[in-house]
Parts: sequence; C-alpha cells; structure tokens
Amino acid sequence: MSNRYAIILAAGQGTRMKSKLPKVLHQVCGKPMISHVLEQVQSAGFEKSTVVIGHQGEEVKETLGDRCQFVWQHEQLGTGHAVKQAAPHLADRSGTTLVISADTPMISAETMKALSDYHEDRGAKVTVLTARVDDATGLGRIIRDPESGDVLRIVEHKDATLKERGISEINTATYCFDNEALFAALEKVTNENAQNEYYLPDVLEILKNEGERVAAFETHDGAEAMGVNDRLALSQAEQVMRKRINEHWMKQGVTFIAPDQTYVSADSELHPDTILHPGTVIRGKSIVHEGSEIGPNSEIEDSTIGSYSTIKQSVVIKSTVGRDVNIGPFAHVRPESTIHDEAKLGNFVEVKKSTIGKGSKANHLSYLGDASIGENVNVGCGSITVNYDGKEKHVTTIEDGAFIGCNANLVAPVTIGKGAFVAAGSTITDDVPGDSLALARARQTNKTGYMNKNDKK
Ligand code: UD1
Ligand code: CA
Repeated sequence: MSNRYAIILAAGQGTRMKSKLPKVLHQVCGKPMISHVLEQVQSAGFEKSTVVIGHQGEEVKETLGDRCQFVWQHEQLGTGHAVKQAAPHLADRSGTTLVISADTPMISAETMKALSDYHEDRGAKVTVLTARVDDATGLGRIIRDPESGDVLRIVEHKDATLKERGISEINTATYCFDNEALFAALEKVTNENAQNEYYLPDVLEILKNEGERVAAFETHDGAEAMGVNDRLALSQAEQVMRKRINEHWMKQGVTFIAPDQTYVSADSELHPDTILHPGTVIRGKSIVHEGSEIGPNSEIEDSTIGSYSTIKQSVVIKSTVGRDVNIGPFAHVRPESTIHDEAKLGNFVEVKKSTIGKGSKANHLSYLGDASIGENVNVGCGSITVNYDGKEKHVTTIEDGAFIGCNANLVAPVTIGKGAFVAAGSTITDDVPGDSLALARARQTNKTGYMNKNDKK
C-alpha cells in the first residue's frame, strides 16, 4: 500500500443553501457534513487530511479543530484551483491522494477504502468514484469510450450537450489520484468553460490524453452519491442517514416502534432491548443502556440513561440517569443533573443542576434546583427549592430518608437533616436537624359559627 493522503474541499460558499452558515457546517443527523466526511476519511485510514477552506473558513476551522491541517483558497476559482492550494503540503510526495467534497456526507469509509484499493491495484493515475442516478441534473457526467468502455473525460452539466445530459453515470466528486500526477496535471487545467472555473474533473482528460491509465469505480449505493447543494438535498440526506443509523441500531437489538418518527444522532449509542417510541429524539453524544424505554415524545441530549429506565414525554439535557429510574410524563431534567438508580421524577417536575439520590421521589409539580438530595427522600407534591435570591444561586441539601410534605418552600442555603419531616405548606429558612419535625406556617384558627352570623347581617 502506498502512502495515502486526503484533500477535502470546503472553500465554496454554498450559495444555493441561502444561509448565513457555511454550507459544509449544515448538519446531517446532528453532525456537520464536513465532520461526517473527515471522520469517514480518517476511519478509512487516510492519516494526513488537508482541508481547503475559504468562504467563512474560520468557522470551518473552529469546527474541525486540530483533527486535520488547513489551507486557504482565498478566491473560489473552482475545484481544480482549490486542490492546487494544497500543493505546498503535498506536491512533492509520492503516494495516493483521495480528493473528496465536504458536501457529500454519505460516502462511507468502506467505499473510500475500496476506491483506493481498486485504484492502486489497477495502477491507475486517477480513479473516479461514479454512481448511476435517476436525476443527474447539475452533476458532472462520465464520458466513456463507446467501444472499450474506458473513461475519457467528465463533462459538467452546464457544458454538456443534450446527448451527454442523457448519461446517467455521474461524478461523485470523490477521486483517487497518483499524487505527483495530480499536481502536475493541475498546472494544465484552464478555465475555458461555461462557469469560467478551473475544474478538477478536467484532470482526467489531461491524464488520458497523456496516455495514462484513467479508471472509474462505481458505487452501487446511489444514496452515497448525494451531493448536498440546497435545503431539499439536505433533507434527503437527513432521511437517508437517519434510515442508516436506525437500521444499524435495529441490527444491534434496539426496537424502533416508528423508525420514521425517531431521530438518533450519528454520535449516540444504544444498547440491546432498548425500545424507542414515536417522537423520540436522541441528540449529541448520548448513551442509552440496555432495556430502557424512551418516549413517546421525549428528547435526550448529551446524556446517559442507565439500564431498564423509562422516560416518557420528557426532556433530559446534559445529565446522567441511573438504572430503573422512572421519568415523566412531562418532566424536565436540565443540565448537570444526576438521577441515581430507582429514583422517580413524575408529572411536571423540573430538576436543574441537582443530584437525586437512589430511590428518591418527586412525583408531582416540583422545582428542584441546585439541590443535593440523598437516598429515599420523598419530595411532596408542589414542593420546591427556593434557590435564587435575585442575585445568587444557593444550594439545598436534603439528607437520606427525609420527608418533605406537600407545597413546602425550602429557602436555600438550607439543609434538611437525615430522616427529618417538613410539614406541608412550610416555608423553611433555617436548617432542620435530623429526625426532627419542622413546622413553619401559621397555626390554623377556626371561628365556630362565623359564617352563619355573617349571613344574617
Ligand atoms: C462537483 C463536480 C461535479 C460532480 C459534483 C458531485 C466540479 C467542477 N464538478 O460539482 O462533476 O458531479 O460535484 O457532487 O468539480 N469548492 C472549493 N473551491 C471552489 C469551488 C468548490 O473548495 O472554488 C468546494 C465546495 O466547497 C464543495 C466542493 O468543492 O465542497 C464541490 O463544489 P460544488 O460547487 O458543490 O460543485 P458541484 O457543482 O456540486
Ligand atoms: Ca456539490
């Protein structure tokens, strides 16, 4: 195997997206298109990747960080001109260079590897990845010799004759080149075409005319060929990728009740016997462990859910949930929360930056913010932590086995000791010692017969 390099083209503006965000940063299944491409390139074994940036390049650079090196293309004069910008890093090396566009997020590492193996086995100077599609509008067509079937050149849609436009085999804009031949041929590319651009595909014709071996490798997964140029294509890519992700997890033993209505991000991980109900959205880097049941209509983001837990009609963000936990319906777990095993958060309960101990329960209408709650605590209906004094947030500590009656206000900073009991309706401003009963409300007065007297007046 030769040395393998990769160049990812990402300098274009993506005018057709009509967006302030650079095209290649638009997300497919929760991940920027260019990150999909870079990750597949890296997992296909191309160690050194050079990304060509230009339009809003700083944003692209920030997204990818130090996972690759960058070169600038200050003026977007075409894909051939873009590749040329990598010359200072690559031109004098021998080996195989994969060139791929950042707007083709569906091309898999397997295909990239198969393409480069094929290219090297054939001893070709260039091998283009092609696909046959139903609608080739806008794409480059592969022109083959009618007799030998050899690839002669690629013609862009805008430059193609009516007859050429009838060809269904297209250029996916992914290629393998002999690195030295690539940079030598790029010197000969001109911009004499309909778009006045320096086309990378012209390198094929140049090499062919020099008598070099020019090859094509066809992917049979037409969906891979999808280039995302506008929002319609973006939604189609999303659909295809979602199907891929969902089917992958189904094969790993996850049940999807309604796969078309279930969204799992590319970076999430699901374990066997998990059941996902309709309307489940799992975002970011989330993990759902064995046998859990999520949904209907639930959102999990950057969170870990332990085994055999249930999350119904609820939202869990940047938090950790243990095993055998029941959340919902209609609960909201906000960032930096930890819900330990066997805990329960019921209807209209909001938890923020809090720890809920093992077996503890807040079943109805509570707000628990900046709270540290021990094991087997019962938070009664409507009880809340008063964590904010208008300037700062304060911590409420509730120790193991404490019982908070209904509709209590725990004014932080405050500690409710182990096994203590807070009477319903209390507003607690002072610490409650362990095993004590705290009453903090006016005593009830009954005025007997008062209403009868009132009526006679
Ligand atoms: C390109 C191919 C076409 C192929 C299609 C597949 C050319 C001339 N055409 O067309 O044959 O069928 O992809 O999707 O290559 N870019 C730069 N600098 C530039 C121009 C583009 O970095 O000066 C980058 C873009 O950011 C993008 C990629 O190159 O990631 C492809 O450019 P785009 O304008 O989308 O090319 P297509 O018209 O789709
Ligand atoms: Ca494109």
